[in-house]
Amino acid sequence: MEHNKKYTWYKIADSIAELSFAENGLTTVEVNNKNICIALHKNELLACTHKCPHAGGNMADGYIDALGNIVCPLHRYKFSLHNGRNVSGEGYYLKTFPVEIRNEGVFIGIQENNLFGWLK
Ligand code: FES
Repeated sequence: MEHNKKYTWYKIADSIAELSFAENGLTTVEVNNKNICIALHKNELLACTHKCPHAGGNMADGYIDALGNIVCPLHRYKFSLHNGRNVSGEGYYLKTFPVEIRNEGVFIGIQENNLFGWLK
């Protein structure tokens, strides 16, 4: 995570157990009117936008490969869940979000948009 970025943190669940993951280790939650795909891989929670940057495939219907990359169900482009890099090399970028597990629950960080930051 880049610490110089400003995030607004949204609670998505009281605990990991409250998130209902499908067999592929993925689920979707709505945060601030955005659908976010949440991945559970090797006890680590990761988050990305649910829409594939290539042609809008629903990432939550894809799968996580052995290396922890998310694979889009439509054309199988692969992305790192840690930094959004298109590891299969097509040149796209998947937006990812930081996830924090705190005593009060599971939180996801959404970066404040520029206009909002500018108005403050
Ligand atoms: S829509 Fe995801 S790879 Fe094409």
